[in-house]
Amino acid sequence: MKEFNLGIIGLGNIGLEVYRNIKKNASDIKKKTGFKLNILKVSAKNIRKKREIKIPKKLIEKNISKIINDPKIDIIVELIGGSDGVAKKIIFDSIKKNKHVVTANKALIAKHGDALSILAEKYGVNLLFEAAVGGGIPIIRSMKQGLIANKLTHIYGILNGTTNFILTEMEKRNESFVNVLKDAQKLGYAESNPSSDVDGFDAADKISILSSIGFGTKIINKGFVIEGIRNIDLDDIRFAKSLNYTVKLLAIAERKGNKVKQRVHPCLIPDNLDVANIDNVINAIVVDGHPIGRTIYEGPGAGKGPTSSAVISDITSIMLGNDEYSFGLAPSAKKKLNLFNFDNHISKYYIRFLTKDVTGVLSKITSVLAKYKISVANLYQEPSKLGSANIMLVTHQTKELSIQKVMRKLLTQKKLFKKIVMIRVRDYKKL
Ligand SMILES: NC(=O)c1ccc[n+]([C@@H]2O[C@H](COP(=O)([O-])OP(=O)(O)OC[C@H]3O[C@@H](n4cnc5c(N)ncnc54)[C@H](OP(=O)(O)O)[C@@H]3O)[C@@H](O)[C@H]2O)c1
Repeated sequence: MKEFNLGIIGLGNIGLEVYRNIKKNASDIKKKTGFKLNILKVSAKNIRKKREIKIPKKLIEKNISKIINDPKIDIIVELIGGSDGVAKKIIFDSIKKNKHVVTANKALIAKHGDALSILAEKYGVNLLFEAAVGGGIPIIRSMKQGLIANKLTHIYGILNGTTNFILTEMEKRNESFVNVLKDAQKLGYAESNPSSDVDGFDAADKISILSSIGFGTKIINKGFVIEGIRNIDLDDIRFAKSLNYTVKLLAIAERKGNKVKQRVHPCLIPDNLDVANIDNVINAIVVDGHPIGRTIYEGPGAGKGPTSSAVISDITSIMLGNDEYSFGLAPSAKKKLNLFNFDNHISKYYIRFLTKDVTGVLSKITSVLAKYKISVANLYQEPSKLGSANIMLVTHQTKELSIQKVMRKLLTQKKLFKKIVMIRVRDYKKL
């Protein structure tokens, strides 16, 4: 019987759980794959650190290159993180040593995935990263294998559990962004530096990976709209509710002819729409394609259990000989699709103005909107409180460029406005 030998590098949240679950499920893995899976070596930054699980001394190796160069090791599992530095070196070096690589590192795959997949093909090894998107949801393998017969047109959803938790809790508890963020940090859902999550970068890495797989394009990892949820107040959630909308941070990729329309930003979505009721740290991904139509994937988008499930599924996929391309097609077949010019995006827009208690505010807003031929579908002005008042409006369909011009013009009016929040409205049919 052939055995597969692993080297696990990184023994944090995920690495330790992968170790634990491989040990715990060793006999199942053998039954399901026909092969024995051994953990031959593990490594971390501080090999003396006391960990939740006792790891036999003989497995621990401080020198990572010894693991990479060990001829007995078939698969390297990189669970350190970071788009560059040591994680990058480990993956490049491992492939060059003919090792299969499994990683959960979305930042690294979004940045170096194209170069790495070319290298993996050259060296005849697998580079798999199911855990990089959607935690435990098997979205990557579903898209690469389950949907292989389809031409995908849209991929969108909630790809960041932390921001979804924050938005859900703000609404449920009527609590501010800042306070809920603190709670999320205490619960371990948000990092001490939460920027990657709350500013949309984590979701951006994930949608870059999915659009590359879904549309067969080289990774588009920059130049698209990436907005997070820092600017969103309880007032926005309250106004959205009054209009039967929910605020969600969506990551969206659409195929538009030879272009890809890709973005991450908060959206107002109708209360009864597919992903509106996906709450807390749950992720959901909607995939449209021909001939299948719409499929929806939902599940825990992070955390050690779900993420270890995805990492182990990659390991066993390699053992089963699923000779998968990293992005679902030969790297040489990947096209370089360009980004759709987002200035031409058409949407309804929600805009909230937190105004100072001065006269002429509403007429200023309406005159600037009129200048750019933007008509208003809803408008509501709250009575002034403590020297501020909210004016909320929703436009009819208009061009992104016009809204950006309006925003630029009004944001300079410091005497009139304390804050302006713009959120794109996602209609039933339109993305
Ligand atoms: N946490 C999640 O829910 C989640 C979900 C999906 C994907 N991921 C991805 O999974 C990966 C790991 O995340 P995590 O949450 O497990 O991170 P973590 O808890 O911070 O663990 C990182 C591990 O890497 C080790 N490490 C750091 N620098 C190293 C170095 N120079 N050499 C060797 N080892 C080093 C650390 O060693 P010490 O323990 O000795 O400090 C630690 O064991 C990341 O790419 C992350 O994006 C995480």
